[in-house]
Amino acid sequence: MTTPKFARGTLHTFQPPEQVSQVTRALHGVGRKVALVPTMGALHAGHRELIRRAKRLPNTVVATSIFVNPLQFGEGEDFEAYPRPLDKDLEVLKEDGVELGFLPKASDLYPEGATVTVHPGALGDELEGAVRPGHFAGVLTVVAKLFNIVRPDYAFFGEKDYQQLVLIKKMVRDLNFDTRVIGVPTVRERDGLALSSRNVYLTPEQREDAIVLSAALTAGAFVGRDGAEAVLATARQTLAARPAVEVDYLELRGTDLGPAPVDGEARLLIAARVGSTRLIDNVPVVLGAAVDHPEHAPDAGE
Ligand code: PAJ
Repeated sequence: MTTPKFARGTLHTFQPPEQVSQVTRALHGVGRKVALVPTMGALHAGHRELIRRAKRLPNTVVATSIFVNPLQFGEGEDFEAYPRPLDKDLEVLKEDGVELGFLPKASDLYPEGATVTVHPGALGDELEGAVRPGHFAGVLTVVAKLFNIVRPDYAFFGEKDYQQLVLIKKMVRDLNFDTRVIGVPTVRERDGLALSSRNVYLTPEQREDAIVLSAALTAGAFVGRDGAEAVLATARQTLAARPAVEVDYLELRGTDLGPAPVDGEARLLIAARVGSTRLIDNVPVVLGAAVDHPEHAPDAGE
């Protein structure tokens, strides 16, 4: 088979995995790098920020995959209803200078279903995993497949899905993938709400209630110097103002999602239901004395 044509500066879309592999192999052959931005489509400013970061890399072709991965949705979740505005998404990719669009079909990626999968380990059953059993096995399996098909030198993921980012970094390390995973801070609406493809499900009233997630996290992070208890109490107090928002979890953890340290960098994470829409968010927190003594901060002196 001859390598599909690839002209610089224009969007090329491919559906068969073999074609994408051929193109990226050819690009590597002429010394170019490949950066992958995996998505499920319904592209918004959060996805576009990942693309923008990828575009900054020199000598690098940016590839974006759009695939609503059935393996990571549970029974009764929104797989069917998940928005799929493909034409609009392709316009976004063109506008943002993406040169390679990978749009596989489920039958391409899972011709016989998925029997061999990637097991995320214990962290896969915590936080999001406790509410969504099998979710992270579905995510890691599809990301491993995308990495093997595209062979990216770099892959960009949002901190918005912080547990996903931590698990993907862990998978890359534990399974020796030759890809550098880069995390990108969460893009938010002006009022703080983290951008998400699921925000379209919110009614105007629920949209108003949803602000409380980021408000609670920000308020909590603000009192980090007073320690973990104060962070959680402050966040809970903010959440109490919106009783319609049902919190699944509010947790303070270490940056690797192990136990939070007494002092230093941590992560405050929340999942909550607003009506029937489940939203997640998280922020960095600096706990204890580290706030007052910048010389103790990990990046001091840089
Ligand atoms: P999706 O929800 O489409 O998100 C694609 C990428 O965009 C993820 O890395 C996600 O963290 C990032 N993202 C979403 N909202 C963001 C925001 N407000 N700011 C910054 N980044 C944001 O996450 C998935 O798809 C899937 O699980 C996937 C990794 C593609 C595997 O199927």
